[in-house]
Amino acid sequence: MLDVAILGASGYTGIELLRILSRHRHVRVVHAGSRQYSGRKVEEVFPFLRGACGGLTFGDDEPSGIEAELFFCALPHGASMDVVAVLLERGKKVVDLSADFRLKDRLLYERWYREHTAPGLLNEAVYGLPEFYREEIRGATLVANPGCYPTGTILALLPPLREGLVYPSGIIIDAKSGVSGAGRKAALETQFVEVSDGFHPYRVLAHRHTPEIEEVLCVLSGEKLRVAFVPHLLPVARGILTTIYATLKEGVSTEDMKRVYKEYYSKEPFVRVIDGGGLPDIKHVRGSNLCDIGFRVDEERGLVVIVSAIDNLVKGASGQAVQNMNIMYGFPETEALDVLPLGL
Ligand SMILES: NC(=O)c1ccc[n+]([C@@H]2O[C@H](COP(=O)([O-])OP(=O)(O)OC[C@H]3O[C@@H](n4cnc5c(N)ncnc54)[C@H](OP(=O)(O)O)[C@@H]3O)[C@@H](O)[C@H]2O)c1
Repeated sequence: MLDVAILGASGYTGIELLRILSRHRHVRVVHAGSRQYSGRKVEEVFPFLRGACGGLTFGDDEPSGIEAELFFCALPHGASMDVVAVLLERGKKVVDLSADFRLKDRLLYERWYREHTAPGLLNEAVYGLPEFYREEIRGATLVANPGCYPTGTILALLPPLREGLVYPSGIIIDAKSGVSGAGRKAALETQFVEVSDGFHPYRVLAHRHTPEIEEVLCVLSGEKLRVAFVPHLLPVARGILTTIYATLKEGVSTEDMKRVYKEYYSKEPFVRVIDGGGLPDIKHVRGSNLCDIGFRVDEERGLVVIVSAIDNLVKGASGQAVQNMNIMYGFPETEALDVLPLGL
């Protein structure tokens, strides 16, 4: 059995980790970190986990004193970097769900977030997108779990970009996220009355996931590019639908697009490319670690519209984090993640 700890276990991604890991046959959660609920039973605070956590109690122990082999850090960005540095010094492995180790370029991180106190670890961190970094993840000590918007975007865009079917310039990413993407902390703009029955863009061309999307796409495609990224707040609890507009290179057909997606994803357990022209729906991935991808080609106008759907808390966060752990420890990659979406 692998002993794991979850820091930030009372947040949305932390709770989701508890839910997923309760089904894992090779893992035991020995510490659920929370300041606000310290001393209280997990299943008392979150009754939907009743009977699933074996009497586990939230605790606020110093990370340096927690006996676990692997740590999931589900803390806000900025709170994670110091903790991760301490854990790595102790020889622990970490899957960090925050943005603190996702960017390789320290100055870029500091421009979009804040001062970095452990910049020496940026190069050690492996970007935890298994579909493109599986081999590196296998031997990693620190995995930087991707952001939710970047996951849906990169999985959708990278095959045609890498294979030179679309131009790297002029790409528009129009994404919509459920409210859990903003985390569990109370904030006026995510309250029910503010969000329900409405639908609006936010941080237009200024969202922090823009540099992450650009950096990873540049590294993996070998193309220098900038994107227009526009997120929207969707009045649902979970799910991200991403619609990407790109210009096709001359002569590229629907068949070419089908071929590259098949090449990249036919063996991937969590990516479903929709055959027959169907398009994704967040409802069809809800509660699962799946990423659904569909597209439409307009050969006459040289345009392609690519659409992806993920559950932001699963493939966009905690499910992908467990997938990364499975790869790091040689467990079956689908362990604890092999569930169908809720569908409703
Ligand atoms: N929500 C998503 O869809 C999503 C997707 C991908 C990545 N992420 C990233 O994953 C991380 C966690 O996200 P989340 O949505 O789960 O956030 P969240 O709901 O706000 O939960 C974060 C938890 O961390 C603890 N915490 C907050 N500030 C802390 C501090 N300074 N020191 C120690 N603990 C602190 C809090 O628990 P206590 O107050 O009980 O200690 C809180 O419950 C973030 O970095 C986020 O950007 C989120």
